[in-house]
Amino acid sequence: MTIENGGKTALVTGASGGIGGAICRQLVRHDYRVVAAARGLDRLEALAAELGPNLRTLALDVNDRAATAKLASSLPAGFGRIDILINNAGHDSGGRRRFDEGSAEQWCDIIETNVQGMIRVTHALVGGMLQRGHGHIINLGSIAGLKPYASGSAYVASKYAVHGFSEALRLDYAGKGIRVTEIMPGLVRTGFAEQRLGDAARAQAFYDSFDACLRPEDVAETVCFAIAQPRHVEISQLVVLPVA
Ligand SMILES: NC(=O)c1ccc[n+]([C@@H]2O[C@H](COP(=O)([O-])OP(=O)(O)OC[C@H]3O[C@@H](n4cnc5c(N)ncnc54)[C@H](OP(=O)(O)O)[C@@H]3O)[C@@H](O)[C@H]2O)c1
Repeated sequence: MTIENGGKTALVTGASGGIGGAICRQLVRHDYRVVAAARGLDRLEALAAELGPNLRTLALDVNDRAATAKLASSLPAGFGRIDILINNAGHDSGGRRRFDEGSAEQWCDIIETNVQGMIRVTHALVGGMLQRGHGHIINLGSIAGLKPYASGSAYVASKYAVHGFSEALRLDYAGKGIRVTEIMPGLVRTGFAEQRLGDAARAQAFYDSFDACLRPEDVAETVCFAIAQPRHVEISQLVVLPVA
């Protein structure tokens, strides 16, 4: 796939994880300049060592109100104009349990990161996109944002919110040069299940119990596909499922 890069700069949240890291790799491969943001700086630094000077790291907790509010002015030198925002940070920590079996705090933390974090980061960067008259916001939703499942109340709620936010944001910026894309993957084999279940062996068994999983690279390809479209084409949603 060829992407016309034109020196564009992307910011990827959750870049220390499986899907975020794969997105960074594909974008740098296509000559984009990338700001890779997450809390886990050691994993970001490994990514920077692998991908070279077109990737800069940024310590960012999307739940940190003060840090997200000044995000536009905290970007690495020379990487201050974000053309593409990829809202990928997310988790389901403590999930896969019936609602009453988890704590309210746990459930609210999922909403805070997956929904409020996405809103905070988007709000911090959309002003620059509006000023420049172009931009692309790509939100990592999930098939869970279309189809609920038992033992997933907070995560499902968070991804329904990503879906609603993406749909409404697209209407806000119609005709303003800002495209909004929602990527909705099915199961992807990453560190997500370990984070969710708190145990590497259970996570491995969880993924192994399915006939097929997507690879993070498969999801990154869909992000590149959305970005690669000419300016008059907006990929609004992409549902990406594994098949055996
Ligand atoms: N794996 C799947 O089956 C699947 C399916 C559909 C959708 N998704 C979505 O895809 C996205 C990426 O998930 P993944 O599978 O790549 O999981 P992952 O490997 O666990 O990565 C999650 C990323 O989110 C970051 N993150 C979590 N809390 C954060 C916070 N407060 N501030 C900043 N970053 C934070 C983590 O970084 P730090 O901990 O270093 O901050 C990590 O980089 C998520 O939105 C997830 O809901 C995943």
